[in-house]
Amino acid sequence: MDLGNGLEGTQDTLDAEIQSFFDSAPPLKSSINVSEKLEEFIKRNSEASGKFTLRNGCDRKIVCVTSGGTTVPLERRCVRYIDNFSSGHRGAASTEYFVKAGYAVIFLYRRGTFQPFCRSLPDDPLLECFEFSDESKNIQVHHSHSEAVKRAITEHHAAVGEGLLLKLCFTTIFEYLQMLQMIALSMRSLGPRAMFYLAAAVSDFYVPWKSMAEHKIQSASGPLDMQLNQVPKMLLVLGKDWAPTAFCISFKLETDTKILLEKADAALKKYKMHMVVANELSSRKEEVIVITSNNERISVRRNRTLGVEDVEGPLIQLLVERHSSYVQNF
Ligand code: PMT
Repeated sequence: MDLGNGLEGTQDTLDAEIQSFFDSAPPLKSSINVSEKLEEFIKRNSEASGKFTLRNGCDRKIVCVTSGGTTVPLERRCVRYIDNFSSGHRGAASTEYFVKAGYAVIFLYRRGTFQPFCRSLPDDPLLECFEFSDESKNIQVHHSHSEAVKRAITEHHAAVGEGLLLKLCFTTIFEYLQMLQMIALSMRSLGPRAMFYLAAAVSDFYVPWKSMAEHKIQSASGPLDMQLNQVPKMLLVLGKDWAPTAFCISFKLETDTKILLEKADAALKKYKMHMVVANELSSRKEEVIVITSNNERISVRRNRTLGVEDVEGPLIQLLVERHSSYVQNF
Protein backbone atom coordinates (compact mmCIF):
# COMPACT_ATOMS: atom_id res chain seq x y z
CA MET A 1 0.00 0.00 0.00
CA ASP A 2 1.29 3.45 -0.88
CA LEU A 3 1.52 5.58 2.23
CA GLY A 4 1.62 8.90 0.48
CA ASN A 5 5.33 9.30 1.08
CA GLY A 6 6.39 7.40 -2.00
CA LEU A 7 7.17 4.23 -0.05
CA GLU A 8 5.33 0.97 -0.10
CA GLY A 9 4.23 -0.18 3.33
CA THR A 10 1.38 -1.42 5.44
CA GLN A 11 -1.54 0.26 7.12
CA ASP A 12 0.28 -0.42 10.40
CA THR A 13 3.23 1.64 9.19
CA LEU A 14 1.00 4.57 8.30
CA ASP A 15 -0.75 4.33 11.68
CA ALA A 16 2.66 4.26 13.37
CA GLU A 17 3.81 7.35 11.44
CA ILE A 18 0.66 9.21 12.38
CA GLN A 19 0.92 8.13 16.00
CA SER A 20 4.53 9.25 16.07
CA PHE A 21 3.56 12.64 14.61
CA PHE A 22 0.90 13.21 17.26
CA ASP A 23 3.12 11.88 20.05
CA SER A 24 5.82 14.31 19.02
CA ALA A 25 3.45 17.28 18.89
CA PRO A 26 3.31 19.77 21.76
CA PRO A 27 -0.13 19.63 23.43
CA LEU A 28 -2.69 21.99 21.91
CA LYS A 29 -2.98 24.90 24.36
CA SER A 30 -6.62 25.72 23.69
CA SER A 31 -7.91 22.18 23.26
CA ILE A 32 -10.68 22.37 25.89
CA ASN A 33 -11.91 25.66 24.55
CA VAL A 34 -11.83 24.37 20.96
CA SER A 35 -13.69 21.19 21.82
CA GLU A 36 -16.40 23.12 23.72
CA LYS A 37 -16.91 25.50 20.81
CA LEU A 38 -17.04 22.60 18.37
CA GLU A 39 -19.51 20.61 20.41
CA GLU A 40 -21.81 23.62 20.80
CA PHE A 41 -21.61 24.56 17.09
CA ILE A 42 -22.27 21.04 15.83
CA LYS A 43 -25.06 20.42 18.29
CA ARG A 44 -26.74 23.69 17.38
CA ASN A 45 -26.53 23.01 13.65
CA SER A 46 -27.58 19.37 13.98
CA GLU A 47 -30.66 20.44 15.87
CA ALA A 48 -31.27 23.13 13.26
CA SER A 49 -31.46 20.48 10.59
CA GLY A 50 -34.36 18.85 12.40
CA LYS A 51 -36.35 22.07 12.63
CA PHE A 52 -35.43 23.89 9.45
CA THR A 53 -34.84 22.89 5.94
CA LEU A 54 -32.67 24.95 3.66
CA ARG A 55 -33.69 26.89 0.57
CA ASN A 56 -33.00 23.78 -1.52
CA GLY A 57 -35.10 21.58 0.76
CA CYS A 58 -32.19 19.66 2.34
CA ASP A 59 -31.12 19.34 5.95
CA ARG A 60 -28.41 21.67 7.14
CA LYS A 61 -24.95 20.57 6.16
CA ILE A 62 -21.68 21.47 7.84
CA VAL A 63 -18.41 22.03 6.03
CA CYS A 64 -14.94 22.33 7.50
CA VAL A 65 -12.96 24.75 5.32
CA THR A 66 -9.21 24.75 5.95
CA SER A 67 -7.33 27.84 4.88
CA GLY A 68 -3.82 29.32 4.75
CA GLY A 69 -0.42 27.75 5.27
CA THR A 70 1.00 25.92 8.27
CA THR A 71 4.34 26.92 9.79
CA VAL A 72 7.09 24.51 10.81
CA PRO A 73 8.92 25.80 13.89
CA LEU A 74 12.67 25.23 14.05
CA GLU A 75 13.00 26.00 17.76
CA ARG A 76 10.67 25.30 20.68
CA ARG A 77 10.95 28.89 21.86
CA CYS A 78 10.30 29.75 18.30
CA VAL A 79 12.28 32.51 16.64
CA ARG A 80 12.52 30.91 13.21
CA TYR A 81 10.10 28.83 11.21
CA ILE A 82 9.46 27.55 7.69
CA ASP A 83 6.34 28.94 6.04
CA ASN A 84 4.62 28.95 2.65
CA PHE A 85 2.92 31.35 0.24
CA SER A 86 -0.76 30.69 1.01
CA SER A 87 -2.74 33.89 1.66
CA GLY A 88 -5.96 32.17 2.75
CA HIS A 89 -7.91 33.96 0.00
CA ARG A 90 -9.34 30.70 -1.39
CA GLY A 91 -10.57 29.53 2.02
CA ALA A 92 -12.05 32.91 2.99
CA ALA A 93 -13.88 33.37 -0.34
CA SER A 94 -15.14 29.78 -0.32
CA THR A 95 -16.47 30.20 3.23
CA GLU A 96 -18.59 33.15 2.09
CA TYR A 97 -20.12 31.10 -0.74
CA PHE A 98 -20.78 28.11 1.54
CA VAL A 99 -22.58 30.36 4.03
CA LYS A 100 -24.62 31.86 1.17
CA ALA A 101 -25.54 28.31 0.12
CA GLY A 102 -26.92 27.69 3.64
CA TYR A 103 -24.01 25.67 5.05
CA ALA A 104 -22.70 26.01 8.56
CA VAL A 105 -18.93 26.51 8.22
CA ILE A 106 -16.08 25.60 10.53
CA PHE A 107 -13.36 27.89 9.22
CA LEU A 108 -9.98 26.48 10.29
CA TYR A 109 -7.57 29.22 9.27
CA ARG A 110 -4.01 30.36 9.67
CA ARG A 111 -3.78 33.30 12.07
CA GLY A 112 -3.33 36.59 10.16
CA THR A 113 -4.62 35.39 6.75
CA PHE A 114 -7.68 36.54 4.75
CA GLN A 115 -11.01 36.44 6.57
CA PRO A 116 -14.48 35.76 5.17
CA PHE A 117 -16.51 38.86 4.28
CA CYS A 118 -13.46 41.15 4.62
CA ARG A 119 -11.82 40.50 1.27
CA SER A 120 -12.88 43.80 -0.28
CA LEU A 121 -11.39 45.87 2.54
CA PRO A 122 -7.99 47.52 1.98
CA ASP A 123 -4.80 45.97 3.38
CA ASP A 124 -4.77 48.16 6.46
CA PRO A 125 -8.50 48.63 7.16
CA LEU A 126 -8.16 50.46 10.47
CA LEU A 127 -5.96 53.19 9.05
CA GLU A 128 -7.47 53.34 5.57
CA CYS A 129 -11.20 53.02 6.26
CA PHE A 130 -11.57 55.39 9.20
CA GLU A 131 -11.03 59.09 9.75
CA PHE A 132 -11.73 61.72 12.38
CA SER A 133 -15.04 63.53 12.10
CA ASP A 134 -15.51 67.18 13.16
CA GLU A 135 -13.05 68.55 15.67
CA SER A 136 -11.26 65.22 15.81
CA LYS A 137 -13.54 63.92 18.57
CA ASN A 138 -15.18 61.01 16.83
CA ILE A 139 -14.18 58.45 14.31
CA GLN A 140 -16.20 57.78 11.17
CA VAL A 141 -15.90 55.55 8.13
CA HIS A 142 -14.34 57.28 5.13
CA HIS A 143 -17.02 57.58 2.44
CA SER A 144 -14.85 55.78 -0.14
CA HIS A 145 -14.94 52.62 2.00
CA SER A 146 -18.36 52.93 3.62
CA GLU A 147 -20.09 50.38 1.36
CA ALA A 148 -17.32 47.81 1.81
CA VAL A 149 -17.23 48.26 5.61
CA LYS A 150 -21.02 48.09 5.88
CA ARG A 151 -21.14 44.91 3.80
CA ALA A 152 -18.32 43.26 5.76
CA ILE A 153 -19.89 44.00 9.14
CA THR A 154 -23.44 43.11 8.09
CA GLU A 155 -22.57 39.81 6.39
CA HIS A 156 -20.07 38.70 9.04
CA HIS A 157 -22.41 39.49 11.94
CA ALA A 158 -25.30 37.78 10.15
CA ALA A 159 -23.27 34.58 9.64
CA VAL A 160 -22.02 34.51 13.23
CA GLY A 161 -25.39 35.63 14.65
CA GLU A 162 -27.24 32.86 12.82
CA GLY A 163 -24.71 30.37 14.18
CA LEU A 164 -23.39 29.55 10.69
CA LEU A 165 -19.74 30.45 11.18
CA LEU A 166 -17.23 29.11 13.68
CA LYS A 167 -13.69 30.42 13.25
CA LEU A 168 -10.77 28.46 14.70
CA CYS A 169 -7.18 29.47 14.10
CA PHE A 170 -3.84 27.70 13.90
CA THR A 171 -0.27 28.68 13.22
CA THR A 172 1.89 25.56 13.25
CA ILE A 173 1.60 22.21 11.50
CA PHE A 174 1.13 20.64 14.96
CA GLU A 175 -1.85 22.85 15.78
CA TYR A 176 -3.38 22.39 12.33
CA LEU A 177 -3.35 18.60 12.33
CA GLN A 178 -4.46 18.27 15.95
CA MET A 179 -7.37 20.61 15.30
CA LEU A 180 -8.29 18.91 12.03
CA GLN A 181 -8.47 15.59 13.87
CA MET A 182 -10.65 17.09 16.63
CA ILE A 183 -13.00 18.63 14.07
CA ALA A 184 -13.23 15.42 12.03
CA LEU A 185 -14.03 13.29 15.08
CA SER A 186 -16.66 15.80 16.21
CA MET A 187 -18.27 15.89 12.76
CA ARG A 188 -18.54 12.11 12.55
CA SER A 189 -22.04 12.18 13.99
CA LEU A 190 -23.25 14.21 10.99
CA GLY A 191 -22.77 11.29 8.62
CA PRO A 192 -22.87 12.31 4.94
CA ARG A 193 -23.96 15.86 5.79
CA ALA A 194 -20.36 16.62 6.78
CA MET A 195 -17.98 17.98 4.18
CA PHE A 196 -14.24 18.63 4.28
CA TYR A 197 -12.86 21.26 1.93
CA LEU A 198 -9.11 21.08 2.43
CA ALA A 199 -7.70 24.23 0.87
CA ALA A 200 -4.93 24.78 3.44
CA ALA A 201 -1.37 24.53 2.19
CA VAL A 202 -0.03 21.96 4.64
CA SER A 203 3.70 21.50 5.25
CA ASP A 204 5.14 18.25 3.97
CA PHE A 205 8.17 18.28 6.29
CA TYR A 206 8.59 19.04 9.97
CA VAL A 207 11.00 18.92 12.88
CA PRO A 208 9.70 16.55 15.57
CA TRP A 209 9.21 18.33 18.88
CA LYS A 210 11.47 15.82 20.65
CA SER A 211 14.48 16.62 18.46
CA MET A 212 13.80 20.36 18.21
CA ALA A 213 16.27 22.84 19.75
CA GLU A 214 14.88 24.49 22.89
CA HIS A 215 16.53 27.88 22.33
CA LYS A 216 17.31 30.07 19.35
CA ILE A 217 19.75 28.24 17.08
CA GLN A 218 23.08 30.04 17.19
CA SER A 219 24.44 31.31 13.89
CA ALA A 220 27.97 31.31 15.33
CA SER A 221 27.88 27.50 15.09
CA GLY A 222 28.22 27.73 11.29
CA PRO A 223 25.92 26.49 8.49
CA LEU A 224 22.73 24.83 9.63
CA ASP A 225 22.37 21.17 8.82
CA MET A 226 18.93 19.94 9.74
CA GLN A 227 16.96 16.80 8.98
CA LEU A 228 13.21 17.25 8.50
CA ASN A 229 10.82 14.33 8.87
CA GLN A 230 8.00 13.76 6.42
CA VAL A 231 4.56 14.82 7.64
CA PRO A 232 2.31 11.81 7.12
CA LYS A 233 -0.53 12.63 4.70
CA MET A 234 -3.56 12.61 6.94
CA LEU A 235 -6.00 12.55 4.02
CA LEU A 236 -6.25 8.78 4.04
CA VAL A 237 -7.03 8.49 7.76
CA LEU A 238 -9.37 11.45 7.56
CA GLY A 239 -11.57 9.73 4.98
CA LYS A 240 -11.13 6.24 6.36
CA ASP A 241 -11.04 6.54 10.16
CA TRP A 242 -11.79 10.03 11.43
CA ALA A 243 -14.85 10.89 9.33
CA PRO A 244 -15.59 7.87 7.13
CA THR A 245 -18.98 9.05 5.87
CA ALA A 246 -18.04 12.66 5.13
CA PHE A 247 -17.82 14.14 1.63
CA CYS A 248 -14.13 14.97 1.17
CA ILE A 249 -12.55 17.43 -1.22
CA SER A 250 -8.82 17.98 -1.28
CA PHE A 251 -6.70 20.32 -3.37
CA LYS A 252 -3.70 19.68 -5.54
CA LEU A 253 -1.29 22.50 -6.15
CA GLU A 254 1.55 22.37 -8.65
CA THR A 255 3.67 24.94 -10.46
CA ASP A 256 4.18 22.69 -13.49
CA THR A 257 0.89 22.40 -15.42
CA LYS A 258 2.20 19.32 -17.25
CA ILE A 259 1.99 17.18 -14.12
CA LEU A 260 -0.95 18.85 -12.37
CA LEU A 261 -3.85 16.74 -13.61
CA GLU A 262 -1.92 13.51 -13.38
CA LYS A 263 -1.03 14.24 -9.75
CA ALA A 264 -4.60 15.31 -8.95
CA ASP A 265 -5.91 12.08 -10.47
CA ALA A 266 -3.45 10.07 -8.43
CA ALA A 267 -4.43 11.91 -5.22
CA LEU A 268 -8.12 11.23 -5.86
CA LYS A 269 -7.46 7.50 -6.06
CA LYS A 270 -4.75 7.25 -3.43
CA TYR A 271 -6.61 9.17 -0.73
CA LYS A 272 -10.10 8.08 -1.80
CA MET A 273 -11.32 11.67 -2.03
CA HIS A 274 -14.72 12.40 -3.58
CA MET A 275 -13.24 15.27 -5.55
CA VAL A 276 -9.86 16.91 -6.01
CA VAL A 277 -9.54 20.55 -7.03
CA ALA A 278 -6.43 21.00 -9.16
CA ASN A 279 -4.83 24.42 -9.39
CA GLU A 280 -1.61 25.93 -10.67
CA LEU A 281 0.09 28.56 -8.54
CA SER A 282 0.05 31.56 -10.89
CA SER A 283 -3.41 30.98 -12.43
CA ARG A 284 -5.15 29.77 -9.25
CA LYS A 285 -7.44 32.80 -9.06
CA GLU A 286 -8.52 32.43 -12.70
CA GLU A 287 -9.15 28.72 -13.11
CA VAL A 288 -9.34 25.43 -11.23
CA ILE A 289 -10.08 21.97 -12.58
CA VAL A 290 -12.27 19.68 -10.55
CA ILE A 291 -11.54 15.97 -10.86
CA THR A 292 -14.35 13.70 -9.73
CA SER A 293 -14.50 10.04 -8.79
CA ASN A 294 -16.52 9.49 -12.03
CA ASN A 295 -13.41 10.52 -13.99
CA GLU A 296 -14.83 13.91 -14.95
CA ARG A 297 -12.54 16.91 -15.40
CA ILE A 298 -14.54 20.08 -14.97
CA SER A 299 -12.94 23.43 -15.65
CA VAL A 300 -14.23 26.26 -13.44
CA ARG A 301 -13.23 29.78 -14.47
CA ARG A 302 -13.61 33.31 -13.26
CA ASN A 303 -15.26 35.51 -15.87
CA ARG A 304 -15.82 39.09 -14.76
CA THR A 305 -17.50 40.10 -18.02
CA LEU A 306 -20.17 37.47 -17.29
CA GLY A 307 -20.43 38.61 -13.66
CA VAL A 308 -18.43 35.68 -12.25
CA GLU A 309 -16.37 37.73 -9.80
CA ASP A 310 -14.22 34.92 -8.48
CA VAL A 311 -13.63 31.29 -9.23
CA GLU A 312 -14.96 30.23 -5.82
CA GLY A 313 -18.56 31.18 -6.75
CA PRO A 314 -19.09 28.54 -9.47
CA LEU A 315 -16.74 26.13 -7.70
CA ILE A 316 -18.80 26.07 -4.50
CA GLN A 317 -22.03 25.85 -6.52
CA LEU A 318 -20.71 22.72 -8.21
CA LEU A 319 -19.54 21.15 -4.92
CA VAL A 320 -22.83 21.93 -3.18
CA GLU A 321 -24.76 20.17 -6.00
CA ARG A 322 -22.49 17.13 -5.85
CA HIS A 323 -22.68 17.01 -2.06
CA SER A 324 -26.50 17.08 -2.24
CA SER A 325 -26.51 14.07 -4.59
CA TYR A 326 -24.06 12.30 -2.29
CA VAL A 327 -26.36 12.86 0.72
CA GLN A 328 -29.45 11.75 -1.24
CA ASN A 329 -27.80 8.57 -2.51
CA PHE A 330 -26.19 7.67 0.78
O1 PMT B 1 -4.47 30.56 0.04
P1 PMT B 1 -4.40 31.07 -1.40
O2 PMT B 1 -3.27 32.03 -1.60
O3 PMT B 1 -5.74 31.62 -1.87
O4 PMT B 1 -4.05 29.79 -2.32
C1 PMT B 1 -4.94 28.72 -2.37
C2 PMT B 1 -4.17 27.39 -2.47
C3 PMT B 1 -3.34 27.38 -3.73
C4 PMT B 1 -3.27 27.21 -1.24
C5 PMT B 1 -5.25 26.25 -2.50
O5 PMT B 1 -6.07 26.40 -3.62
C6 PMT B 1 -4.56 24.87 -2.55
O6 PMT B 1 -4.23 24.35 -3.60
N1 PMT B 1 -4.37 24.25 -1.36
C7 PMT B 1 -3.63 22.97 -1.22
C8 PMT B 1 -2.15 23.25 -1.35
C9 PMT B 1 -1.35 22.01 -1.08
O7 PMT B 1 -0.87 21.84 0.01
O8 PMT B 1 -1.27 21.15 -2.06
P2 PMT B 1 -0.49 19.74 -1.97
O9 PMT B 1 -0.52 19.25 -3.34
O10 PMT B 1 0.85 19.91 -1.32
O11 PMT B 1 -1.39 18.85 -0.98
C10 PMT B 1 -2.55 18.22 -1.45
C11 PMT B 1 -3.56 18.00 -0.33
O12 PMT B 1 -2.98 17.22 0.71
C12 PMT B 1 -4.08 19.29 0.28
O13 PMT B 1 -5.52 19.24 0.33
C13 PMT B 1 -3.49 19.33 1.68
O14 PMT B 1 -4.42 19.87 2.63
C14 PMT B 1 -3.20 17.84 1.95
N2 PMT B 1 -1.96 17.61 2.72
C15 PMT B 1 -0.78 18.11 2.30
C16 PMT B 1 0.38 17.83 3.00
C17 PMT B 1 0.30 17.02 4.14
N3 PMT B 1 1.39 16.74 4.84
N4 PMT B 1 -0.88 16.53 4.54
C18 PMT B 1 -2.01 16.81 3.85
O15 PMT B 1 -3.08 16.33 4.23
